[in-house]
Amino acid sequence: MNTPLDSSWLVTGAAQGLGRAIALGAARRGAAHVTVADVDAAAAEQVAAEVVAAGAEATVLVVDLRRPDEVRGMVDDAVDAMGGLDTLVNNAGILDVTFQSDATFDTLSEDSWDAVMAVNLKAVWLATQRAAPILRRSTRSPSVINAASVSGMTGYPSPAYAASKGAVIQLTRSCAISLAPDVRCNSFSPGSFDTPMARHRIATAADPDAQLRQMTGNHLIPRAGDPDELANVVCFLASSEASFLTGANVPVDGGTMAWRGTRA
Ligand SMILES: NC(=O)c1ccc[n+]([C@@H]2O[C@H](COP(=O)([O-])OP(=O)(O)OC[C@H]3O[C@@H](n4cnc5c(N)ncnc54)[C@H](O)[C@@H]3O)[C@@H](O)[C@H]2O)c1
Repeated sequence: MNTPLDSSWLVTGAAQGLGRAIALGAARRGAAHVTVADVDAAAAEQVAAEVVAAGAEATVLVVDLRRPDEVRGMVDDAVDAMGGLDTLVNNAGILDVTFQSDATFDTLSEDSWDAVMAVNLKAVWLATQRAAPILRRSTRSPSVINAASVSGMTGYPSPAYAASKGAVIQLTRSCAISLAPDVRCNSFSPGSFDTPMARHRIATAADPDAQLRQMTGNHLIPRAGDPDELANVVCFLASSEASFLTGANVPVDGGTMAWRGTRA
């Protein structure tokens, strides 16, 4: 796969899980520089060391994506550090239960709703808006790649999360229109992947086994996804191999969206 050599990547939420796999996947495929942006400084430093070991330069930016000034500053600092920007991956995401462990439709607080919308949706718009002039100047297959979810494609009982992810799919299409033809914009919609987010959700469930069955039982491929399987798709979307792909939402879901069933 031809990920543009010498490309500069900014990946949010890159300190663990899917973001870490994306950062390392880019480095392994010849990205010149990867900015690891996350609220977790220590874990981001660890991933940056792994990026360097994989052959790319790395920059760590500590950012709270709930804060618009920090989102804009993140893009500016990444561009300064890397001397440009070719691929923006708006990967970071949080759940309704991230700051409120008892969050349900009935109990979700306004603060939790706002936090989910700020990280999962508003930061995606703000970072893309800030990065757009830089991306338009890139000659290395510039693109924006956003983390959506199958929970944004079909009904899901976490109201803020599901609404934010559905909105990301629409925001991606809107950005694709606005930035065409210079900058491609696509989203990916994971099924259940084996990441700290998913593990935490299973571990804190009243019945962890039932939760695991609920999360992977609708995969036609009967297991959780490996983060590298998601990174493979993101690296393809960023590459010139995907030069005619924009405005798309790509399910990476083990077949979840292909049917209405649950495996016995
Ligand atoms: N793992 C799955 O099964 C799955 C399924 C569907 C969608 N997704 C989406 O994929 C993306 C990555 O998921 P993951 O499972 O790797 O998540 P994760 O929770 O394992 O990692 C998310 C990362 O984002 C960072 N982050 C959280 N809040 C932040 C903030 N305010 N500012 C900066 N960084 C912040 C965290 O520190 C963490 O490093 C998310 O957008 C998620 O919604 C994941």
